[in-house]
Amino acid sequence: LQALPRMKTDVAVIGAGIAGLYTALQTSEYADVVLISKKGLDDSNTRWAQGGIAAVTAKSDSPALHRQDTLIAGAGLSSFSAVEVLVHEGPDRLKELIAYGTEFDRDEQGRYELTQEGAHSKRRILHANGDATGAEIVRALSARVKEQPNIHVLEHHFAIDVITQDGESVGVIVQKPGGELFFLEAKATVLATGGAGQLYRYTTNPDIATADGIGIAYRAGARIKDVEFIQFHPTALYYPGAPRFLISEAVRGEGAILRNSNGERFMEKYHPQKELAPRDIVARAIVSEMEQTNASFVYLDITHESEELIKHRFPTIYNFCLQYGLDMVTDWIPVAPACHYIMGGVQTDLHGETSTKRLFACGEASCTGVHGANRLASNSLSEAVVFGHRISERIKELPEHPVIHELSVTSERREPRRFNTRQQRIKLQKLMLRHVSVKRHEKGLTKALAELERMEQYYHFQNDEKEAFEFLNLLNAAVLTTKAALMREESRGGHYRIDFPNKDDLIWRKHLIQAMNEGVQ
Ligand code: SIN
Repeated sequence: LQALPRMKTDVAVIGAGIAGLYTALQTSEYADVVLISKKGLDDSNTRWAQGGIAAVTAKSDSPALHRQDTLIAGAGLSSFSAVEVLVHEGPDRLKELIAYGTEFDRDEQGRYELTQEGAHSKRRILHANGDATGAEIVRALSARVKEQPNIHVLEHHFAIDVITQDGESVGVIVQKPGGELFFLEAKATVLATGGAGQLYRYTTNPDIATADGIGIAYRAGARIKDVEFIQFHPTALYYPGAPRFLISEAVRGEGAILRNSNGERFMEKYHPQKELAPRDIVARAIVSEMEQTNASFVYLDITHESEELIKHRFPTIYNFCLQYGLDMVTDWIPVAPACHYIMGGVQTDLHGETSTKRLFACGEASCTGVHGANRLASNSLSEAVVFGHRISERIKELPEHPVIHELSVTSERREPRRFNTRQQRIKLQKLMLRHVSVKRHEKGLTKALAELERMEQYYHFQNDEKEAFEFLNLLNAAVLTTKAALMREESRGGHYRIDFPNKDDLIWRKHLIQAMNEGVQ
């Protein structure tokens, strides 16, 4: 055994997307912060967010309407109080984002341009540089973080595990780029690690979205909630040689229609809101059309809109498609659903604290209760800042933490791999895609769970490379998701069971909560 080198700070923030950057900035107003990013500061899931950020700014809109839309999308499982917090505090947090230097698009009169997305009853989504909202937010916030003397940024460092003492988080074990470990002692730790898109073979998320927060929190004993609810974005690019690049819902918000591979418009058969129905409905409708026409894609058609509108509103998407010879002005774009967002995550209270004291979760890693069974488009960026602010207020009140005992790790190097992490990750992603995706069934879920649990047993602590820890996080999250999906014998939001196709409010208007020492509740 070897004593771990130590570093000490007030607040450890893990993750450099909107949730991590913003929470670090807010807490740095009264505390020293260490911000840990497994990549560079400008590399996060947020960086790829296109559509925008939902908050009430228009006179014709109201928090009550935003609340109603969020609750309807959440399909009966959103927490009313968490949604109240979101819709009432969102506008003030938006002003702070602007004060931090984020520039949202404005019209010629200087008013913020507002776009529409699925299941919103009003235009209330602010965007930046047309369809590059996340990149603009990350630009502004990371510039501020770099200027802040009491935020110490550790880029290319990997947070492995949160350490608890008497049920409270006391800090985190971090791996330096060269592989060396140290213990970062902190009065509070914030998991702002982002999403879990890499659970699936096809995702709009970047490679780094490996469910780190869920894995770390679960192993630290914290409760994990609602992870069976996975949102598949209906329209990811589907083209030979191209990645599953997100084609924003805002494209449908600005008038694009969906056509099956025979060229027929189909959404009116599925929902009165047609292309702007809630995402789960659009994604399932697309899969049904693909099955009926024996095709692996449908088309997104915005060719009836003007060239000027397309290029002004969607410069990133337009140019990306053009690289592959697809011109949105004249061509229908082939698209298919891909994993986009996990509604569940690390359970928190209304101040972002998890069931493990002094451990907080923010952004996609968390389950604040806002999204319920299905997230309303563009609510995620707002949720991150609203709860990031509340986390910072709660941490400010925390008393000093207890004395931390010495921490040791085994110094013995393990055998180099016979285990191919890359191959195992692909195997997991294929299992999840085949059995735990848009349409699920008991038989497939049982098969996937058995295989995932076998992989978990076989894998345990075989490797100490960053990719292996990421894989462990994915594996933990895959098991939790599959277990909950198997238990939930109904269909709701981002969880659809072919064998239980209806919503069952009598039995299932409840949450599945899982914790290491508590099983499933
Ligand atoms: C999109 O632009 O379609 C994604 C927005 C979101 O997921 O909230």
